[in-house]
Amino acid sequence: MCGIVGYIGHQKATPILIEGLKRLEYRGYDSAGIALVEKEGLIHEKAAGKVKTLEELLINKTFASHIGIAHTRWATHGVPSDLNAHPQVDHTGNIAVVHNGIIENYRTLKEVLERKGYNVISDTDTEIIAHLISMYYEGCLTEAVRMALSQVEGTYAIAVIDSRSPEKVVAARNGAPLLIGQGEGENFVASDVAAILRYTNKVVYIEDKEIATITANDFRISTIEKIDITHKVEEVGWTLEMIEKAGHEYFMHKEIHEQPETLRNAMRGRLNLEEGTVRLNGLTDHLDDLSKIKRIIIIACGTSWHAALIGEYLLEEYAKIPVEVEYASEFRYRSPIIDEGTLVLVISQSGETADTLAAMREAQRRGAKGLGIVNVVGSTIARESDGGVYIHAGPEIGVASTKAFTSQIMVLSLITILLGRMRNISYNMGKEMIEALQSLPEKIQTILDNEEQIKGIAETYYKHNNFLYLGRGVNFPVALEGALKLKEISYIHAEGYPAAEMKHGPIALIYENMPVVVIATRDSIYDKVMSNIAQVKARNGNVIAIATEGDTEIAERVNHVIYIPKIKQCFTPLLAVIPLQLMAYHMAVLRECNVDQPRNLAKSVTVE
Ligand code: F6R
Repeated sequence: MCGIVGYIGHQKATPILIEGLKRLEYRGYDSAGIALVEKEGLIHEKAAGKVKTLEELLINKTFASHIGIAHTRWATHGVPSDLNAHPQVDHTGNIAVVHNGIIENYRTLKEVLERKGYNVISDTDTEIIAHLISMYYEGCLTEAVRMALSQVEGTYAIAVIDSRSPEKVVAARNGAPLLIGQGEGENFVASDVAAILRYTNKVVYIEDKEIATITANDFRISTIEKIDITHKVEEVGWTLEMIEKAGHEYFMHKEIHEQPETLRNAMRGRLNLEEGTVRLNGLTDHLDDLSKIKRIIIIACGTSWHAALIGEYLLEEYAKIPVEVEYASEFRYRSPIIDEGTLVLVISQSGETADTLAAMREAQRRGAKGLGIVNVVGSTIARESDGGVYIHAGPEIGVASTKAFTSQIMVLSLITILLGRMRNISYNMGKEMIEALQSLPEKIQTILDNEEQIKGIAETYYKHNNFLYLGRGVNFPVALEGALKLKEISYIHAEGYPAAEMKHGPIALIYENMPVVVIATRDSIYDKVMSNIAQVKARNGNVIAIATEGDTEIAERVNHVIYIPKIKQCFTPLLAVIPLQLMAYHMAVLRECNVDQPRNLAKSVTVE
């Protein structure tokens, strides 16, 4: 949610900043801007629209600056416009600020500044920070930032430059991600490692309420209260190749196709076939506690919440532990009952989602152990949780989550086996489950190889404006996820329902030829799902069924069948979701939508 990149060092800043912005664009893409310190002073250029628009604006301009900050925005205060784009500059034109987050007391601060004669011209809360820094400036930028931030309530990651101090970038964070990239004779600041990976994989994570002063050869970090801090430099395992498209038209397409590999990565080194169990290093210190838990609460948002629902099914079915799944945004404002036997599992791809982080902190405040299932290594949830398991899906850049979803389910399956084997599942069952998981990558590949058929179905239906997705049992969350994928990237209205619920209302929506996607795999509730299909057909709806290979019977009862290989029932979501991801993708492409950057959305929702 908003991307920040800053540079200081021996190279020219502009190309590095623009490249960084392009890599961060998935975090926000309604406007972009850059500020540099040139010989003649601070200059800034910004424009509503994508980074490409900013790049075009700069095409005939040459800049010599070796220091600069840049931003790609996801609007919170004020519409996307040139004026509201960042950087925001103070009234003297010396100080430029880029910001990710929300300043909650900005109205009060604005009134104070206006009373003192400052002219606030944009609708952003960020401009307030620029004026505040200016108001406190007495020759030292770091101190002025420190004073300004002591007045600010809310969340922020900021980077600041001042034409009077061209030897430093000042950065600070509270509740939004920010890291320093360490180079040789150059240093970087960024909201995400993707922006700087081309130059360095050595990073230092800035923590909440810390300020960093970054020069070309050094950086110093202190708290807002002025206590010096040292953090260790960490090496990030991601490579440049991992954050590029590798010949695919969109990141989402690449990420869908990566799933056989990402699932292998999620299992690697964790399976113990001989003992019919798994080993999860991030949980080894907690095994004693895990053997005693009586109840699990899983907290997440969006797609991660759908993975949590599948986790609920798995954990209750095999580990026999009662599970509640909560939307993080709701959990944090309730009075959840957490007792000694309650374990809180937090699922987040980015590890930065504000609601999820706040919910985890609330659970920890109430005495719960919070374990994370996270993708981004070093993210805030990963660092603040009491332990957990990385999903190892690699960078997910398409805004719509795909590979992270299947890897989250994989990790939930591994946790189920671990907890199940500590309780009631037999060695044979543990082994059977592991073998089923091992067979997944190849099975997913066969579905991916069938992409042309799925694309054909997308071609038939992409002009429709309403879709219904139905599933039952463990596949009900898959119906929710299929509907979410479609609506978020193609803007087609889609609803997901438990198939049997249809008769309690949604059936009224069915009109002639309305596309209804039904997950109808050969399992214990197959016959019931077939009755639901009959109800749709009786109202002349068109059914697209996701069915089990070899089920010829279903082909006679529906309009289209997409076959998936047979797998142990509890793991069908890992296969059934693949055609739904591909179908949503192709419909979005056919509707000429920007698949990777759907309107109004951003990866990593770091605001409430
Ligand atoms: C949908 C999607 C979102 C995220 C949600 C949580 O495709 O990506 O619904 O799943 O914003 O994000 P994380 O998992 O990063 O906490």
